[in-house]
Amino acid sequence: MPSHAPPEPRTVLLTGGAGYIGSHTFVALREAGFEPVILDNFANSHPAVLERLGRITGRAPLVERGDVLETALVEAVLRRHRPVGVVHFAGDKAVGESVAQPLKYFHNNIGGAISLLRAMEAVYVDALGPRLRGDDGRGAGDGRGAGDGVALVFSSSATVYGDPASVPITEDFPRQHTSPYGQTKLVIEDMLQALLRAQPAWRIGVLRYFNPVGAHPSGLIGEDPAGIPNNLMPYVTQVAVGLRPHLNVFGHDYPTPDGTGVRDYIHVQDLAAGHVAALQALLAKPQSFTVNLGTGRGYSVLEVVRAFEQASGRPVPYKLVDRRPGDVAQCYADPSLARKLLGWEARHSLQEMCADAWRWQSGNPQGYATV
Ligand code: NAD
Ligand code: UFG
Repeated sequence: MPSHAPPEPRTVLLTGGAGYIGSHTFVALREAGFEPVILDNFANSHPAVLERLGRITGRAPLVERGDVLETALVEAVLRRHRPVGVVHFAGDKAVGESVAQPLKYFHNNIGGAISLLRAMEAVYVDALGPRLRGDDGRGAGDGRGAGDGVALVFSSSATVYGDPASVPITEDFPRQHTSPYGQTKLVIEDMLQALLRAQPAWRIGVLRYFNPVGAHPSGLIGEDPAGIPNNLMPYVTQVAVGLRPHLNVFGHDYPTPDGTGVRDYIHVQDLAAGHVAALQALLAKPQSFTVNLGTGRGYSVLEVVRAFEQASGRPVPYKLVDRRPGDVAQCYADPSLARKLLGWEARHSLQEMCADAWRWQSGNPQGYATV
């Protein structure tokens, strides 16, 4: 008799899943029928996000507290949950801090990636092929056979394009780094390519995010930076809510229509959907890819300020100040490869990004510490 039981949800491990992008991706994965498991050390996130994720999805999230740098722990987590794929968000991301403390970034970002990959290699040894199995033929014993593949999605960044020669940026543009943070993304991308050459059973999706902003439309989860925000949108929202007196607009003499920097802001909900699409593509057939996740449309700092004022009904006072060292004039994606390979494209407008960022900030003036 045919069984009408619902199919077992497919487990996915999210390293750094309690963070800004990871938490939104958690929700999108549950909505798509996956069972995401968060592995996070809460170095840059607040445990209060977990209760919020439970409220949004109707069920408490599965969580493993721990550090990705601890390979044995990651291995144990993989053996416990047997995920069909891993999304690797965990890492440090502040460009300025990486200039001041490069070793912190090399250790946590590059070290974290190596630790995760070694744990995956150990657990999925059978799937990765006989060359890895060793003399005793021991394997993971998880029912996977050679050829099943091992799926990994990695959070890379448009920072790998450095100062691009032109816009829009396609994935074949030369890569360069302008900070130790950017360097970690280059090194990890290169490590993943070497791994693919050596062990073709890996299925790896490298996602180069442009500028993620906004929040879940419920206003329950969002970006909660520690200290003074480095990025434009959280700074703008903190000015609008009265936490900071004004925005400093870094540079007004760039070769752009209004002189301020132009970026490809992408709603974090679109980004989350991009992860689901990437994972589904990797699970559907053996393949690997590197794609931009952006909208293809650039907005200047002053356009963002105006859109935000409109969406929030609040003034955002600003001062035009000197350029921030290391900033580029313009950076926006050609997102057509992601559309072609993943059937994904960004849908949300700048207005929606601002409205959702405002709903989160106004409902949680101190971020998760408001709870
Ligand atoms: P985030 O800091 O909000 O999330 C990262 C999470 O990883 C945090 O919850 C943190 O506690 C956790 N973490 C850090 N080190 C860890 C470790 N060793 N073990 C376990 N957990 C650890 O950052 P985010 O904005 O969600 O970014 C996620 C990923 O996307 C990062 O790799 C980042 O470099 C990349 N990225 C972010 C942006 C952006 O603008 N937000 C842009 C491009 C790429
Ligand atoms: N900006 C201001 N005032 C601020 C903050 C930012 O005017 O207080 C301007 C910047 O000069 C830039 C734009 O707003 O023109 C966007 O700046 P963000 O800091 O929000 O974003 P970036 O494009 O500089 O950085 C982002 C990610 C980095 C990544 C980089 C690579 O945050 O992690 O893209 O493109 F490395």
